[in-house]
Amino acid sequence: MGTLDDALNLELQSLREAALWRELRRVDSATAPSIHIQGQETLSFASNDYLGLASHPALRQAAIRAVERWGVGASSSRLISGSWQPYHELEDTLAGWKGTEAALSFASGYTTALGAIPALLGSDDVIILDKRVHACCVDAARLSGAQLRVFRHNDPEDLKTKLIWATGLGSKMPLKPGENAASIHRARRILIVTESVFSMDGDLAPLRDIIDLKDQFGAWLMLDEAHAVGLFGEQRSGLAEAFEIANRVEIHMGTLGKAIGSAGGYIAGSRALIDLLVNRARSFIFSTAPLPAQAAAAKAAIELIQGPEGASRCARVWTLVDRLKNELTHAGWPPGVVRSTIVPLIVGEEGRAVCLAEALKSQGLFVPPIRYPTVARGAARLRISLSADHTAEHLQRLVQALRIYAKT
Ligand SMILES: Cc1ncc(COP(=O)(O)O)c(C=O)c1O
Repeated sequence: MGTLDDALNLELQSLREAALWRELRRVDSATAPSIHIQGQETLSFASNDYLGLASHPALRQAAIRAVERWGVGASSSRLISGSWQPYHELEDTLAGWKGTEAALSFASGYTTALGAIPALLGSDDVIILDKRVHACCVDAARLSGAQLRVFRHNDPEDLKTKLIWATGLGSKMPLKPGENAASIHRARRILIVTESVFSMDGDLAPLRDIIDLKDQFGAWLMLDEAHAVGLFGEQRSGLAEAFEIANRVEIHMGTLGKAIGSAGGYIAGSRALIDLLVNRARSFIFSTAPLPAQAAAAKAAIELIQGPEGASRCARVWTLVDRLKNELTHAGWPPGVVRSTIVPLIVGEEGRAVCLAEALKSQGLFVPPIRYPTVARGAARLRISLSADHTAEHLQRLVQALRIYAKT
């Protein structure tokens, strides 16, 4: 059989050969557009800190105060050792912001999905996912044991086909003792899962169409707003707010680690939903709670986002987005029609994406190459993400460097 390392080295070699090798890059400075990475001062376009809050004094102070008051570790699951005040304050703030009855925070966005989806659906149920939802929702859907269907990315017609299939399914299932066909049909749960702003393409889901279909077929919607909170809507609570459909979404999901600048994840929704998750979400029940300071920083961020500074940071990042798109077009890298803080430059082949990223890195620019399995094979890209703390000069430097490679 060979040793463990022999087997792993073979696997690693094949990753290298396919230009899919990944490694950690050590950073010796705080999150900011300009970072000290692997010994080099680098201008980063890699972070999801869209509003530039990760190093903001208000969040730092909130975290420091929380560490001083509550210490560092939470010592156990919130159901075991007690549920510290900062989590409740964060959850009340989240629910108020999202306009829901309640909210529950988790250690990360990934563990939010992993806990929530299997808590709500099981082997008798159906989950229908957009083809490009984040790995955490795919993994969670698989873990639930539900029947899975994938609809073509952002295609309501294909979603409808899957919903017709799912609602017709009840009558084809063998009856269990004590069931009749009508009761199965009613009992079957159908969950649609989509993102509002897609993480690797920056495009927006057709939320109004999806919501109408969901209602028409009696399904539920879980909406992952990981890349939309802080950026859309008058209160900047996400795309559901901007599209005025927030009160029709059953399960609002998101992360506290991107525009919110801290770490963690959340579900917002009805009281019943949150109570159920407290009782059934295994990643919540069987895991030590995150640092209370993480929750305190997230709460401070949400308050800031809703206020005048949040409005001006949000406006600033959108101005930068428009400017970058314009400059990229002139530099021979037309970025597509989507308006998003995520600007993907599709290059196709994995090796080319890696070479381009390396060439930029040699000029002190960090733009990550995104490859399979994060995106489909042959759809590799440079993913530029912008922060309110970037400047016009930063964009100029990037576009100047990219201009050369547009011709190759
Ligand atoms: C769309 C989407 N959902 C969920 C997550 C997971 O969030 P977290 O990084 O907080 O685990 C991410 C990011 O990594 C994401 O891009």
